[in-house]
Amino acid sequence: MRAAGPVNTLVDARVAYTRVHPVAHGGGPGTGPGITRARLAHGGTTVDGGPTHPDPFSESETDIVTTSNQKVAVITGASQGIGAALVQAYRKHGWAVGANSRSIPPSGDAGVVTVAGDIADPVVARNVVDTAVRDFGRVDTLVNNAGVFIAKPFTGYTAEDYQALIGVNLTGFVTTTQLAVAQMLRQGDGGHVVQVTTSLVDHANSNVPSVLASLTKGGLQSATKSLAIEFAKQGVRVNAVSPGIIQTPMHAPETYDGLAGLHPVGRMGMISDIVDGVLYLENAPFVTGEILHIDGGQSAGH
Ligand SMILES: NC(=O)c1ccc[n+]([C@@H]2O[C@H](COP(=O)([O-])OP(=O)(O)OC[C@H]3O[C@@H](n4cnc5c(N)ncnc54)[C@H](OP(=O)(O)O)[C@@H]3O)[C@@H](O)[C@H]2O)c1
Repeated sequence: MRAAGPVNTLVDARVAYTRVHPVAHGGGPGTGPGITRARLAHGGTTVDGGPTHPDPFSESETDIVTTSNQKVAVITGASQGIGAALVQAYRKHGWAVGANSRSIPPSGDAGVVTVAGDIADPVVARNVVDTAVRDFGRVDTLVNNAGVFIAKPFTGYTAEDYQALIGVNLTGFVTTTQLAVAQMLRQGDGGHVVQVTTSLVDHANSNVPSVLASLTKGGLQSATKSLAIEFAKQGVRVNAVSPGIIQTPMHAPETYDGLAGLHPVGRMGMISDIVDGVLYLENAPFVTGEILHIDGGQSAGH
């Protein structure tokens, strides 16, 4: 039983800055005692910067039905690509979402609260987790999706490259995960943490030299197993997805043909391939410590 369920928290926290339209209890499909339907004129918090591109969650102005079963996900790197698709997928399954990226705009969806800022900055990481808790009452899942990938010969990496990779891939992961797991432990009913790594960790390729990506994302894979074991008894599961090369804005369309050839199945991955993997892990209570390769066969061989 939850002592302080997210229902009241959600509504109370938002009354201060938006209009809430309660639907009469029992007054419509999906409503009933204990269920409140709230609509926000806007949602979102920015730490720095303003909106620089359209709202990626454009299904927007969605009604959110809150019940004591409302689940909450925190997703980093959520303004585009895999992260933005994960936000939509969790929303489709009825979850509320705290979403972060450096340039993410406020969302028009009442079930999404955004925090703009660099996840390598511990102040931002704290704000991301705190904002989700403030607006939605809890954190059930954290997806550490924000990541930096720089491919270059080892001797060509600069100090700036190193700082960027360590900052986002490791410091961002450590601080956000510490805060989210601490929140899950306070809630006392388990949780889930998912890392997004890269198949290059298990499958080095001379055509794509990227030691610092392997160093950092490989560290995430080891940490995934370590955390899974540390928190198994408390019901906090920890998994990773290890993608091959995925058609996201990270890659220019003119490179697709060449990149497809790097996969045994002869094609690049789609964003939906990764979303499906994360949702599988979300719904797999007996799976923890898993590194789920979604890589068109790369990690199996050539
Ligand atoms: N696409 C692939 O082929 C591939 C393969 C293997 C692994 N991955 C991993 O999958 C994850 C998502 O990749 P993607 O392809 O979806 O990338 P993407 O399309 O380039 O999106 C990256 C997202 O991360 C955000 N981001 C970047 N730096 C950030 C920072 N310092 N703090 C907070 N957010 C930050 C970006 O938004 P802002 O610019 O607004 O910050 C954006 O929302 C990454 O971890 C990546 O390493 C991707």
